[in-house]
Amino acid sequence: MSIELDFTGRTVVVVGGTSGINRGIAELFARHGARVAVASRKQEKVADTVRALEGHGAAAMGFAADVRDLAAVEAGLSEVHAAWGDIDVLVSGAAGNFPASVNGMSANAFRSVVEIDLMGTLHVMKASFPFLRNPGACVVNISAPQAFLPMYGQAHVSAAKAGVDMITRSLAIEWGGQGIRVNSVVPGPIEGTEGMARLAPGPDAIAKVAASVPLGRLGSPEDIGHACMFLASDLGAYVSGAVLP
Ligand code: HXC
Ligand code: NAP
Repeated sequence: MSIELDFTGRTVVVVGGTSGINRGIAELFARHGARVAVASRKQEKVADTVRALEGHGAAAMGFAADVRDLAAVEAGLSEVHAAWGDIDVLVSGAAGNFPASVNGMSANAFRSVVEIDLMGTLHVMKASFPFLRNPGACVVNISAPQAFLPMYGQAHVSAAKAGVDMITRSLAIEWGGQGIRVNSVVPGPIEGTEGMARLAPGPDAIAKVAASVPLGRLGSPEDIGHACMFLASDLGAYVSGAVLP
């Protein structure tokens, strides 16, 4: 069997796809022929990303929605479905993070991250299901090492992302019968991103983090896009319920 990493004619949706890692994922799929839709809260970020995707020669669209608002996510995904039909690849990566100890944050601060990362993922999963190619769709949830590594000041993110990975594993079982695969990709520390700026501000902190990575370097958004592309391609056809660090 020869396998093509060509996504021509496929519909890819990246929720939280308007900056950082997720935007890198969206651009990679666009460069490989997919039509790509992105979503996030801020309309100006959506518009800017759509222009960049079109600059790669891709058909592109987007919608503004907060993943905490199930109805808004449903409305946006239904627009994409009306325009392009069934979704082949769904990447769900909207997230929020700030460093704060449990004693140093309010219950509402903890709740905000759980609402965005965990409930947001649930909303994206529930809203997308009627629009996913059935059989054949591939879902990738973007997790974080905090899901299995406790870190100082990251209890909220750990709790939320551990939940994201369990949604992945649970839906791999529940949706497997319909031929829909669900996996998580767990980025390591990725250069030039908002997440790194918040957790490792300044060159010394960045150097320390890089030294803690077995490969001795930070990753790039493209590195993470390649992992998503592997899962979404025929190479990943028998991979479901995996959490790929
Ligand atoms: C303590 C904080 C805080 C901080 C906010 N809060 N920042 N508490 N320390 N640094 C509290 C607020 O006081 C408030 O609680 C509650 O959190 C909600 O804050 P809002 O600003 O009202 O929320 P909202 O506007 O919804 O913004 C959500 C957000 C924000 C998560 C707080 O930072 C955001 O929108 N982030 C999106 C971008 C982002 O974080 N990107 C990085 C993703 S990286 P009170 O009690 O006052 O109401 C990632 C993993 C990275 O996810 C891993 C890297 C290795
Ligand atoms: P980022 O640039 O801040 O990306 C977050 C994206 O989500 C943006 O498009 C943002 O756009 C959107 N978003 C945030 N809150 C939202 C909400 N409530 N509803 C809808 N969209 C929302 O962050 P990043 O550092 O690249 O991280 C991207 C993903 O990788 C996250 O899932 C993160 O947990 C994960 N991760 C990152 C790292 C890292 O090194 N950076 C490491 C491990 C895991 P708007 O502001 O327009 O909403």
